[in-house]
Amino acid sequence: MRDRKFCVDIGGVDLKNPVMTASGTFGYGREFDELIDLNQLGGIIVKGLSLLPSPGNPPPRIIETPCGMLNAIGLENIGIEAFVNEKLSFLKNFSTPIFINIYGKTVDEYADLASRIDELDDVAGLEVNISCPNVKAGGIAFGVGCDAAAEVVESVRKRTSKPLMVKLSPNVTDIVEIAKSVEGAGADSISLINTITGMMIDIAKRRPVLANITGGLSGPAIKPVALRMVWQVAREVKIPVIGIGGIMNAEDAIAFLIAGATAVQVGTANFVNPRATIDIIEGIDSFMAKENLDQVGDLIGSIRI
Ligand SMILES: Cc1cc2nc3c(=O)[nH]c(=O)nc-3n(C[C@H](O)[C@H](O)[C@H](O)COP(=O)(O)O)c2cc1C
Repeated sequence: MRDRKFCVDIGGVDLKNPVMTASGTFGYGREFDELIDLNQLGGIIVKGLSLLPSPGNPPPRIIETPCGMLNAIGLENIGIEAFVNEKLSFLKNFSTPIFINIYGKTVDEYADLASRIDELDDVAGLEVNISCPNVKAGGIAFGVGCDAAAEVVESVRKRTSKPLMVKLSPNVTDIVEIAKSVEGAGADSISLINTITGMMIDIAKRRPVLANITGGLSGPAIKPVALRMVWQVAREVKIPVIGIGGIMNAEDAIAFLIAGATAVQVGTANFVNPRATIDIIEGIDSFMAKENLDQVGDLIGSIRI
């Protein structure tokens, strides 16, 4: 692995390989420390953090679906200060870049989080989750409108010089126009996709299975949608794109790289196989050896249409 070039630059952060963990599926890193060597990962993206702790939604809030899972965790988290005091000191022992995924219910909340994170030397960058309900707009997610998405990114950009990855919602009509607006607002990279809104019904009770009624679908079921969106966006923006959605093995990850992703994030697969990220890194390496590729860049955007 060492003699082939595996490193990628995702908008100001160098990763030793293109495989990261997806927010909300890898805790705050420590949960996986006994299972895998965290130094081997390309990047760690921690569970989404808000300014204050949040209990999330009431249960039931997670259910398995055919080829995936539906979750309505509701962005439960310990809040930025507890993360800094209790979790960051552990994570900084590793050579792997750490990204903090943030969300807010107002633009000011996003901006205040960015200011706080800007002070943290051990954090490589931010991932801005714009799939969060905008309180001022009656709960419509920031990420479904170009103006609201751009407003969040501009306000965060003003408050930090750290690299900004902006994570897009797939629950939109035109993903390319949202991608272009966050690029114009100062994003250094774009990650996609977040979960797709869905629901399940218990027919005996005639009730939704999740207490929240709807939830976010993830896992293999969403991979074709994610691949399509990554391909569409990567052709239209100049900044690096990070592919997410149903990546369960190296073949899935390679497909995203071929579609134009510079790196990938692994989410639901971590629940099925805690070693999924390591298996994927090794599998990409084997594929490159078999295909006689010297660097991972030879795969990126190599789709033949
Ligand atoms: C249980 C769970 C919690 C999640 N929490 C977050 C979160 O806090 N912030 C975020 O941006 N995305 C969150 N996500 C979305 C994932 O990071 C990822 O975008 C999505 O699951 C699609 O990838 P996958 O199919 O590989 O899981 C969560 C997903 C799951 C399944």
